[in-house]
Amino acid sequence: MKKKKILFFKITGLLIFLILLSGGFSFWYVNKTFLTFENGYDEQTNFSELTKEGYTFFDRNNNGKLDQYEDDRESIKARVHDVLSQMTLEEKIHILKGGGMASGIGITKPGGIPGAVGTIVPTTRLGIPTIYLSDGPAGLRIEPTREGEDKTFYCTAFPISTLLASSWNKAMIYEVGDAMGKEAEAYGIDVILGPAANIHRHPLCGRNFEYFSEDPLLSGLMGAAIVNGIQSNGVGTSLKHFVANNQETNRLLNDVIVSDRAMREIYLKGFEHIVKRSQPWTIMSSYNKVNGTYTSESNSLLTDVLRDEWGFEGLVMTDWFGGKNPAAQISAGNDLLEPGTNRQWKALIKAAEIGELSLNNINRATSRILTLVFKTKKMQNYNYNSNPDLKKNAEITRNSASEGMVLLKNEDVLPFSDINNIALLGVTSYEFIAGGTGSGDVNEAYTISLEEGLSNAGFDINNMAQQAFDTHRIATIESFKRPEGIQAIFTPFKPTEMTYTTEQLHDIVTTSDIGILTLGRNAGEGGDRLEKDDFLLTEAEQEMIYKITEAFHKENKKIIVVLNIGGVIETTSWKNLPDAILLAWQGGQEGGNSVTDILTGKVNPSGKLPMTFPINLSDHISNDNFPKNPKIITLEGMVKNLIFPPNELPEAQKVRDEDYTHYDEGVFVGYRHFDTKNIDVSYPFGYGLSYTDFEYQAMEVSVKNDTINIAVTIKNTGKFSGKEIVEFYTEKLNSEINRPSQELKAFTKTKLIEPDAMERVFVKIPIKELSYWDEKKNDWALEKGSYNIKVGASSRDMRQIEQLKL
Ligand code: BGC
Repeated sequence: MKKKKILFFKITGLLIFLILLSGGFSFWYVNKTFLTFENGYDEQTNFSELTKEGYTFFDRNNNGKLDQYEDDRESIKARVHDVLSQMTLEEKIHILKGGGMASGIGITKPGGIPGAVGTIVPTTRLGIPTIYLSDGPAGLRIEPTREGEDKTFYCTAFPISTLLASSWNKAMIYEVGDAMGKEAEAYGIDVILGPAANIHRHPLCGRNFEYFSEDPLLSGLMGAAIVNGIQSNGVGTSLKHFVANNQETNRLLNDVIVSDRAMREIYLKGFEHIVKRSQPWTIMSSYNKVNGTYTSESNSLLTDVLRDEWGFEGLVMTDWFGGKNPAAQISAGNDLLEPGTNRQWKALIKAAEIGELSLNNINRATSRILTLVFKTKKMQNYNYNSNPDLKKNAEITRNSASEGMVLLKNEDVLPFSDINNIALLGVTSYEFIAGGTGSGDVNEAYTISLEEGLSNAGFDINNMAQQAFDTHRIATIESFKRPEGIQAIFTPFKPTEMTYTTEQLHDIVTTSDIGILTLGRNAGEGGDRLEKDDFLLTEAEQEMIYKITEAFHKENKKIIVVLNIGGVIETTSWKNLPDAILLAWQGGQEGGNSVTDILTGKVNPSGKLPMTFPINLSDHISNDNFPKNPKIITLEGMVKNLIFPPNELPEAQKVRDEDYTHYDEGVFVGYRHFDTKNIDVSYPFGYGLSYTDFEYQAMEVSVKNDTINIAVTIKNTGKFSGKEIVEFYTEKLNSEINRPSQELKAFTKTKLIEPDAMERVFVKIPIKELSYWDEKKNDWALEKGSYNIKVGASSRDMRQIEQLKL
């Protein structure tokens, strides 16, 4: 018996020892491979300021002399050339990969920026500084608190990109970009990892909220405006995810099988507009493959198309841990591997040794990285103060959010008149969602709910409805705990929805003037959405909407539905029930105030849909080739993927829509398909209501120097001042190729037009933009003949048409 006991203790002791050992080993391995492996490469900050021949400079390499690269009177090209000539091969290879993920999870060296997800590593000997990279498209994502400091580092949660695109307002988006850039500058961030400009190929891509539109022109012009705004501050951007990254399922291995024509006309086109109009400092290659090659290893995409054809001058970085073969990536023109791992570092050294990675390619990537470093404020030794103007940015976010919200329906109810007591229904009215999850999330200080927004504007929030919510919340409190820290990245906030009894509703309706039911959705990086309970309303939501509208209408009271969502949902089956529907999207941290501004009429809605709201998901051709059972990435899964990178399955075992996805719809994405095939939709592309009406008059079309010039007068014929988005489509008559019946080729937004006043708007369409991609010639081709030039208020509401012969 005693012996058995001893044996038991010995075995248990051994097991505990082994567990501790393997735990310790795993931690050591993860740390040394992915987090911190940069020992001996600390940033040098103690170089002295010298004056030679009347010129004062930082003696970065402490050699007591003025080197050309230390002289900021010289061009960046000359400085980079000089520093490159002084770098050893080891130093050059060192700078090709980032310094690991430690700061991305909040662990930093002194002087670092916790939460910055990546760096360009310093070159100690030459005094080249660390460059900080931080997400993302809706605002910065750095750690809001730091150990031992009382000061906080919250960032502004701006509206999601889909909302920004719904404003169709380039000047406003530039202003949002400018505010983001200023915030980055204040927090010491050199490059913002955004905007994200992938096409909404299918409504259920989990990251659609980070992307702009189903249309490449809208996507491109919105993206260019935000890049220009951010970069006007001397802060860089990383335009992502280049390219055809339209699903999250199996994103590290998915192979997109797509025609050259669809690539050129749809998936590359938006990026092309952005590159040509704004020269982002960096582009982030995507995780996926295109036709068998990882985008980060594709010479044809990263060098032939991006650089040689479009003239991109910046650097390309990988998406985080993306791609397989570091040497192939650098050789293809993917200059920087982020966030960098020890494995990649070793692989690059080895590839250089055995001649797999040429010195030319190492020099090319290094000089592109150094060019970025020399552009940053870090090289001007500016001291950031970590005090952005959060108040001003909150104001910008509030205004931009209301500019992009889309009024889908309004039957004599909005803007409010004679309303005092408002019944707020549905959990989301009280728990507004600022944005999506994943790297596109922001660590903001607060989010204004609809309840707070309406209270701020002086309305009474109905007590009965509020009490019903409070009781429900307490009863389902677990589901109301917002995921925090790193868990929040992959865990959408989904509180349990409410149900109302007939008695409760009776009390609510009889004590209020109007009802607002908010429906919410929260999704994001790492998973695609589902049709059931996400695109389609859940049973609880359906029940709520039927019961609530019935109860309000019975008492002759109105009910409004507010959609606090990040992507398209089904609307056809219920849209006839409420009196008004406001698509509020996810409006950032001031969302509740922005919605209130619209409900009260302080802002006349002027947003229009940047994508179609279809009747059925299956109306999209892409639905035939889109994951139906998406697996959501978990934090544990992601760590496992890092340690044991997933391998491709043998050809025979590959699963459709996971390991590969056929883009069989070709160029027929979104309205390009619906309009060509005359398929009924719930709300068409480009649709949105206003509190006023606009008349389109006197369209004129002329051609000069390869450009179509169009003018049209927009008259406000209603009672409220308002802005109108004016859309210009072209249609090739008697086309000999299979092309969309019409395509957006230009748009503009009027200024605020007073009732009875008018504005003449002008747009230009370069004739070459009417070309299609001819796969036989491998080039753009213009079909000769007649084109309709149409101006409309949506893709299904053309107001004037002129014919043009080209
Ligand atoms: C995302 C990128 C992001 C990066 C850094 C990746 O998982 O795909 O969009 O910029 O992480 O957070």
